Amino acid sequence: MRVSSKFLLLSLLAEVCFGKYTPTKFSRNDFPSGFVFGAGTSAYQVEGAAAEDGRTPSIWDTFANSGKLPDKSSGNIASDEYHKYKEDVQLMKEMGLDAYRFSIAWSRLLPNGRGAINPKGLQYYNNLINELISNGIQPHVTLFHYDIPQALEDEYRGWLSPKIVKDFKEFADVCFREFGDRVSHWTTLNEANIFVIGGYDSGIFPPKRCSYPYGFDCTGGNSSLEPYMAGHNCLLAHAAAATLYKKKYQAKQHGLIGLSLLVYWLTPLTNSEDDVRATQRANDFYTGWFVNPLVFGDYPDTMKKIAGPKIPSFTKYQSKQLMGSSDFIGVNHYRSMNVKHSQNNQMTSQRDFLGDMFAETIEKRDGTPVGEFPLVPSGMQGVLEYFKEVYGNPPIYIHENGYSTPSNETLDDDTRRVTYLSEYMESMLNAIRNGSDTRGYFIWSFLDCFELFNGYQSRYGLYYVDFKDKDLKRYPKFSAHWYSNFLKGNKEIGIVKPTESPNSHVPQ
Ligand code: FCB
Repeated sequence: MRVSSKFLLLSLLAEVCFGKYTPTKFSRNDFPSGFVFGAGTSAYQVEGAAAEDGRTPSIWDTFANSGKLPDKSSGNIASDEYHKYKEDVQLMKEMGLDAYRFSIAWSRLLPNGRGAINPKGLQYYNNLINELISNGIQPHVTLFHYDIPQALEDEYRGWLSPKIVKDFKEFADVCFREFGDRVSHWTTLNEANIFVIGGYDSGIFPPKRCSYPYGFDCTGGNSSLEPYMAGHNCLLAHAAAATLYKKKYQAKQHGLIGLSLLVYWLTPLTNSEDDVRATQRANDFYTGWFVNPLVFGDYPDTMKKIAGPKIPSFTKYQSKQLMGSSDFIGVNHYRSMNVKHSQNNQMTSQRDFLGDMFAETIEKRDGTPVGEFPLVPSGMQGVLEYFKEVYGNPPIYIHENGYSTPSNETLDDDTRRVTYLSEYMESMLNAIRNGSDTRGYFIWSFLDCFELFNGYQSRYGLYYVDFKDKDLKRYPKFSAHWYSNFLKGNKEIGIVKPTESPNSHVPQ
């Protein structure tokens, strides 16, 4: 079916006039000068070319190619950014992005996980970075976004072994040395907390490790112990890479380095003392687990008390190295939860990581109908104020915030994404006005891609990708026009005339 662009324009105007969409109440001039606006992706989710030019599998290739996702899909081709990076950078430029957040596939650069560099991998990332720079877009680069080389998983169980620290540091060293002259912001690990919980407690993500009754279909594991071990090695690997950067590269390359986490806005379900305490515990287990060591040099007391000997300890040297290892914290924020105290009579050694929290989280919907992506914009301000109050206001980049729609969504119905984004951005602005040191905001995702939870069944992109088209053609959604208009300094909704009508194409 084809729909004319005239129809698109009329339907957008109707949506604006009849209240489906409220014009944005702020402009980018309301943000501090130097505030960075961008959009992001990650290597496995967009690059494709999975077996091309010397790249070897990561744990995500193994997981997806064994049919573990609901739609049995994989990132083998994904959005094919490996071949289409030039086109994508042009779209970013047209959109007016200040920065692009992407990750480096470890197994594309170092196919054995360590040692010999793959020249084609090196060339690809150099090309991408150069293309960004020559189009005036800052590269914000993540080193690890869920995709450890399968070779290291096979050799010593990846993040479960302290050996990962040396290998991660070596991988980081190659990246700093080869690309650091042009990279302004490095993130060591993306969402370390959720990577570990998903990979080692519930086992829903690779490397799919869990133990009965906390997950199913796992490749072995121990949900009570392994999350603490893997989390500890993540922190030590981050500290090793960040220290290296600070000692050897930062003075001449002038970049910043940090770590990113998924952060929920958590509020007690009732004002009972039990629920209030459960909320604090949940904050400590989800966020404090990583941020306390980075800011105070150790795990939160609550965690140490509850997990006892299961939680490893830091030496004085490690603790010192961790403190101050992050120039900023990357925050991925999508959702808000109510927290309820939950009783758990099992012994410490039998409880899984999540059980140690003694808390149940229930998604807040605040009026969003079930089936639609929840919209609780105040959560953004809540999270940022929490960092300000509890952690002394560290510099923050919102590394991910975005809205998911089912994959049969058509291009002409993207108003809810615009509402979501503009309301969350406004909430972020409120936090900044209250003194939060938030320095940047990245929408997830720049374009539709392979999604970690459900492959191609959901779309977060500002650009629509036609996965049925062999050229994987990109089309700007309404949100792409809206964001572009915002980035160009306009307050009003403004319907930017697209170079090609998004509605000349309607997905089936
Ligand atoms: C985050 C991931 C990111 C993306 C979004 C939707 O947890 O970091 O890669 O899949 O969720």
